[in-house]
Amino acid sequence: MKDIDPRDLSADDWDELNNPRPDACDFDAVVDEAISRRGFLGGVLAFGSGAAVMGAGTLLSSTSAEAQAASRFAFTPIPIFTDATVHVPEGYSWAPVVRWGDPLTSSAGAFDPETGHDAETAQHVFGENTDGMWLYSIDGHEVIAVNSEYANLKTNLPQSEGVPQSADDVLMLQRIQGVTVMEVAPKDGGGYEVVVDSPFNRRIDHNTPMRFAGPAAGHALLQTEADPEGIAPMGTMNNCGSGPTPWGTYLTCEENFNGYFGSTDPEAELPEDYARYGIGHEGWGYEYHKFDARFDVSKNPAEPRRQGWVTEIDPSDPTSTPVKRTALGRIKHENAAVTLAPDGRVVVYMGDDERGEYLYKYRSNGVYSPGGDTDHLLDDGELFVAKFHPDGTGEWLALTPETTGMDAAEILIFTRMAASAVGGTTMDRPEWVQVNPIAAEGYASLTNNKNRGVKPNAGGDDTSVNGPNPREVNNYGQIVRWFPANDDHAMDAFRWDLYVMAGNPVVGEGAYKGSSNVTEGNMFNSPDGMMFDSSGLLWIQTDGDDSNEGEFEGQGNNQMLAGDPATGQIERFLTGPNGSEVTGLCWSTDRKTMFVGIQHPGGSFPDGEGLPRSTVIAVWRDDGGLVG
Ligand code: FEO
Ligand code: CA
Ligand code: CA
Ligand code: CA
Repeated sequence: MKDIDPRDLSADDWDELNNPRPDACDFDAVVDEAISRRGFLGGVLAFGSGAAVMGAGTLLSSTSAEAQAASRFAFTPIPIFTDATVHVPEGYSWAPVVRWGDPLTSSAGAFDPETGHDAETAQHVFGENTDGMWLYSIDGHEVIAVNSEYANLKTNLPQSEGVPQSADDVLMLQRIQGVTVMEVAPKDGGGYEVVVDSPFNRRIDHNTPMRFAGPAAGHALLQTEADPEGIAPMGTMNNCGSGPTPWGTYLTCEENFNGYFGSTDPEAELPEDYARYGIGHEGWGYEYHKFDARFDVSKNPAEPRRQGWVTEIDPSDPTSTPVKRTALGRIKHENAAVTLAPDGRVVVYMGDDERGEYLYKYRSNGVYSPGGDTDHLLDDGELFVAKFHPDGTGEWLALTPETTGMDAAEILIFTRMAASAVGGTTMDRPEWVQVNPIAAEGYASLTNNKNRGVKPNAGGDDTSVNGPNPREVNNYGQIVRWFPANDDHAMDAFRWDLYVMAGNPVVGEGAYKGSSNVTEGNMFNSPDGMMFDSSGLLWIQTDGDDSNEGEFEGQGNNQMLAGDPATGQIERFLTGPNGSEVTGLCWSTDRKTMFVGIQHPGGSFPDGEGLPRSTVIAVWRDDGGLVG
């Protein structure tokens, strides 16, 4: 482990290296069997399956023939690219809106293209590694809340090759992650820009005071010396995906929080619950624990339990205290897809992004009424884990003291263990989850899982191939969708199918060619970000291997595609610069501009010289038409 630099590995790979899993795993199923059972290849894939026909609902099924005849896409698909810039279809334009280090206030110091900025300036600039975001229309102002997921250590600390040397280095890193809230406005000539010094502008980082709410708030497992009541955590971290609520707040989701913690005592005995969440002695290279005792688990063993939550932020009030909603559980949260059941109960779907972890649902006990009190809706409810049966049916299994043998607070603090206890379905790294706004359907991108059929997850759960995760050593990923019973997301029962199984129809074999809606012209790997537009098109963003070689030949840089749920058609809309992940998507109030996140670009994107800078770009139609 020592001779491998975490700065050169993905978070997931480093996690696995630090916390190796046992190698044994039963193969009780083979991929060919799984594939033919679901009728994927050579057929109409998902769209001809019983699950799809029954589940798609009346809304879309009656129009699918027309939809097939006339594509709903308002663009000419683009080919792959392997260069260092962004490409969009003919008739569309793009431009940067904001880059890591750009000022939110006029008091911010300058950004040096060779060295970045210092800790003082970090408080006043747009954060690093842009990810999930949403735009809010507040009293005529357009305000974007956007996650800054993690730090690119070698880029952010170029003078020490990415190794923090001081408390000041650590403070700088802590300040460029978390969440940025910023007002944006249209710019002359197209695109958008940040409104510098807007009263909405705000940085929320690894040190921002927060509060816990919900059943686990105040629990002994969350108490620290600095916060003996266990109700006032500090900071939100590794903010990956996100989701808007119907009441105008922003849910930011804490994913690989474990990587920030380490121990100054290499022999310190670690609490039993650490292993499942990948918390170890060394951390992932941030070195916080060496300069900030809060992150030293030999001194503050409860601190890592204060991360891994869904945190609610009110973008309309820059003085508001963010709230960690413990009722939504503690996992490596990707994002949160909030929808309403017909009776007004709030349903939140959430994925836990790690190989062989689970998909979750929260259901409120209370109902949402516009203008009414919403503070209790994410504190009082039930948590479930998804169980997918091979016959195309499924159910949400309740995580309760009776079903798990754990007490109510422990279920929320150690949610992974609760899911294992009831036997949820191990998934191929659940990334973003979304709900179709015009049909009763949920979608989850299962980005890839090289361990599928190879070894168990961190809890020892079997990860042999199963219905929605049908390929061993799955390097391409797939998108599963489910259709709740009675078109009601509050129901426990659902049917499911696979919307797309990514693959390579040119060099892949068998199931690794992908499903029938994957072609030489639209292929991709590792679906991750997803967002529905108001017309019900599903936008798919990728975070995969962009080598364009071997099994990924012909797939080029990471990209954004649009998918039609009714027909299965998927077309490529945008490609990112090499080295980047395309992640995060939202729209202007008039839906004439889409905002797209370009995370950790290679080269010197977008400036062409100096340090690469994660960037939110605006994309618009040259004829001023709608883009979503
Ligand atoms: Fe932060 Fe799972 O992506
Ligand atoms: Ca992601
Ligand atoms: Ca990813
Ligand atoms: Ca990334």
